[in-house]
Amino acid sequence: MGLLQKLLCLVFLVLFIVVLFSSPDTASASVEEANAFLKWKEPLANSSMLTTWILDPKKGSSSSASSPCNWFGVSCNVEGSVTRLNLTDSSISGTLETFPFLSFPNLAYVDLSMNQLYGPIPPEISSLPLVYLDLSSNEISGNIPPEIGLLTNLETLHLEENQLNGSIPREIGKLKSLSRLALYINSLSGPIPASLGNLSKLVYLYLFFNQLFGSIPEEIGKLNRLTELDLSYNQLSGSIPNEIGKLKGLERLNFETNNLSGSIPPSLGDLTNLTLLSLYKNQLSGFIPSELGNLKSLVNSDLDNNQLSGSIPAYFGNLLELENLDLSINRLSGPIAAGNLRELHQIETLELEQQHF
Ligand SMILES: *[C@@H]1O[C@H](CO)[C@@H](O)[C@H](O)[C@H]1NC(C)=O
Ligand SMILES: *[C@@H]1O[C@H](CO)[C@@H](O)[C@H](O)[C@H]1NC(C)=O
Ligand SMILES: *[C@@H]1O[C@H](CO)[C@@H](O)[C@H](O)[C@H]1NC(C)=O
Ligand SMILES: *[C@@H]1O[C@H](CO)[C@@H](O)[C@H](O)[C@H]1NC(C)=O
Ligand SMILES: *[C@@H]1O[C@H](CO)[C@@H](O)[C@H](O)[C@H]1NC(C)=O
Ligand SMILES: *[C@@H]1O[C@H](CO)[C@@H](O)[C@H](O)[C@H]1NC(C)=O
Repeated sequence: MGLLQKLLCLVFLVLFIVVLFSSPDTASASVEEANAFLKWKEPLANSSMLTTWILDPKKGSSSSASSPCNWFGVSCNVEGSVTRLNLTDSSISGTLETFPFLSFPNLAYVDLSMNQLYGPIPPEISSLPLVYLDLSSNEISGNIPPEIGLLTNLETLHLEENQLNGSIPREIGKLKSLSRLALYINSLSGPIPASLGNLSKLVYLYLFFNQLFGSIPEEIGKLNRLTELDLSYNQLSGSIPNEIGKLKGLERLNFETNNLSGSIPPSLGDLTNLTLLSLYKNQLSGFIPSELGNLKSLVNSDLDNNQLSGSIPAYFGNLLELENLDLSINRLSGPIAAGNLRELHQIETLELEQQHF
């Protein structure tokens, strides 16, 4: 070997050693994460599930003693850094305000549902690389922080069954990976932000049982992967946008118990995969459009408690899957097209009372 080659070998050896010793120290990374968890655990009311959340003194200073990776509800990647925290239904009572969000650079799945967490959602939650966040069925209050819009990897956001108030931040429309959004049973008020129309991957949207008002934004019609849309039990007003008819994959559409007015858009007849159509208890008027006769998959339809007029359309007789049809408490008149209704093979309930036959 010539001098040059020897020199090069030496340089490579030195480089190799430098790279080896400067590689991230996984043991100390997990110590940091373990301590961060312990700090959060401290004020939590005693949850028997967290008895594994201790540093094991028997193992002395070995890395497994100080790693949280075997703790209840915690999962790690091969480098020993925390990637998942699943403490669903674990009797945890406490607040997220003391959660050390900045200490977990790889925590992507968080399921803290069905506990007694209270207090607000800290904006710092946006520093996690979250793909999955479920804080449902707790007692979390305050607003949804606009910073939630920074979680651009988020695919699932479940915040239902809490005490969240204020309006839905328009920043939620920036969650471009989101496919599942559930905010039901809270005290959210204000309008549905038009920016939700940017969530092009959304499969379900559950906003029911809140105090949302204003009209349904026509931008909802851009959510072309949507299969379930439930806006029921709010105070939504205005008419049902025609654009809803573009949601061709929709299987369940529930707008019941709102304050929607105007007539039923004929475009709803394009939703041929629809199994549920509930418009119960609104202020809808006008005729029931003949296009609804195309809804061949329809199983349940509640159109009662509106001000619909005209005659009962005969085509309901062609909807072979239909089990429940409620048209009661409307202003429908004229003869029931008995010939067709006789062909309602599946039908279990048919409510027609209080009309003007
Ligand atoms: C948790 O339990 C220990 C002993 O079982 C008790 O000393 C401590 O006060 C309890 N902490 C809380 C927050 O209830
Ligand atoms: C959390 O664990 C429960 C069962 O213990 C499981 O049903 C649920 O899917 C898990 N959540 C996540 C996000 O993995
Ligand atoms: C939301 O609830 C908090 C208490 O949790 C209250 O202080 C705040 O005024 C409420 N905000 C709105 C907009 O209702
Ligand atoms: C998101 O939606 C809003 C309101 O519809 C719109 O003004 C904005 O341009 C959209 N942004 C993107 C990135 O599509
Ligand atoms: C309607 O449902 C069928 C059967 O599940 C499915 O193959 C089809 O893709 C759906 N249509 C749309 C537009 O999603
Ligand atoms: C429902 O809308 C009507 C007008 O269409 C309005 O007069 C009424 O106050 C609204 N009711 C509620 C509860 O928002």
